[in-house]
Amino acid sequence: MRNLFTPFHRSLTRMSSHKLCMIPGPIEFHSTVLDAMSTPATSHVAPTFINVFGETIEMMRRIVLTKDGQPFIVSGSGTLGWDMTAANLIEAGDRVLVINTGYFGDSFGECLETYGAVVQHVRCEVGGRPTVEHVTSVLKQDGPFKAVTITHVDTSTGVLNDIQALAGVIKTTHPDTLVVVDGVCSVASEELRFDEWKVDVVLTASQKALGAPPGLSILVASQHAMNIFQTRQSPISSYYASWKRWLPIMQAYESRKPSYFGTPAVQNIMALHVSLGRILQHSMDDVFKRHREVNARIKAHLTDKLGLRLVPLSLEMASNSLSAVYYPEGVVPSTLLSSMGEQGVVIAGGLHRAIATKYFRIGHMGITVMDDEALGYVAKTLAALDTALDNQLGVREKL
Ligand SMILES: Cc1ncc(COP(=O)(O)O)c(C=O)c1O
Repeated sequence: MRNLFTPFHRSLTRMSSHKLCMIPGPIEFHSTVLDAMSTPATSHVAPTFINVFGETIEMMRRIVLTKDGQPFIVSGSGTLGWDMTAANLIEAGDRVLVINTGYFGDSFGECLETYGAVVQHVRCEVGGRPTVEHVTSVLKQDGPFKAVTITHVDTSTGVLNDIQALAGVIKTTHPDTLVVVDGVCSVASEELRFDEWKVDVVLTASQKALGAPPGLSILVASQHAMNIFQTRQSPISSYYASWKRWLPIMQAYESRKPSYFGTPAVQNIMALHVSLGRILQHSMDDVFKRHREVNARIKAHLTDKLGLRLVPLSLEMASNSLSAVYYPEGVVPSTLLSSMGEQGVVIAGGLHRAIATKYFRIGHMGITVMDDEALGYVAKTLAALDTALDNQLGVREKL
């Protein structure tokens, strides 16, 4: 039989030729997470796996700081979290306000419309974020809304929203309105206190600060959200994304009983279990603090040392989990990215449609920030950036 594991595949598995993946997700993962991905075939109802899945569900509560939020861990990418939110909590004609700070606000809005929501966006200039005062006035003038969605960190702009303040005004203006946080680029890196801040839905994915390979959509819903789901009038307009099907599965695994709807991604869940265990060796307060500290060093390097301009309009609204940076004048984007690649570091180009060719992005979340060994990744990335800019511009000498 033809050998399908070609030299190309072999080269991908060789760690020595591996380039650091410093994009804003997927992020680097720890070798123990990689080991969990290569465990032998295991039944999804084997007692060992049931226990792993049950513990993973419980650990997700500790990650987002909730006592009674309902986690859902389902095969898929972060995008499935949008579909789960829209399919289960929104009924045709419901009005939803999207606090939009970039590409991912636009896309979440499109997803909600697919399920019949009437979507209103609060937008602002690229790199900015709507102020709490502006959102308050929209809520008062145009509300009530069934839900308000907020992208905690928009990965296209690196803009961080103030969830505590926004959730506060949303709940003060109308306590029943669902506060939905897209935390794909923030969970386990930016401060998020689900219960204390009265968040109703936080959705995320395995491949960012949670530190596992892509493949899992992870969502936590408050009891308020679960009540709205349980009392909805119209049928759920999705088969795979329906919580009617997934809730009994999550409850079964958590009570350590076998159950089946849609085969779970056994190895991905094992890998997530290992990664969450590593994160939870720290308190979440420490996790947030460490991300803030490392981010402060990175931003100082980019702005003070290299004189580069960030996409976020101020440091206060810049994410701690990634940096979105304009190319300085005279730099050819493809040359900069390939020079980084030649030095063994992969970073990302731009994504926001209005400025896509004008900026690049570096991810700095998860083990890159938390793991002492991996902290060298940030130093290596910044050194590669210095060299790449020097090669094109001699930027540092000019400053
Ligand atoms: C903020 C945000 N929301 C949603 C998504 C979609 O997640 P996925 O690509 O895993 O479907 C992403 C992806 O990067 C994201 O950054």
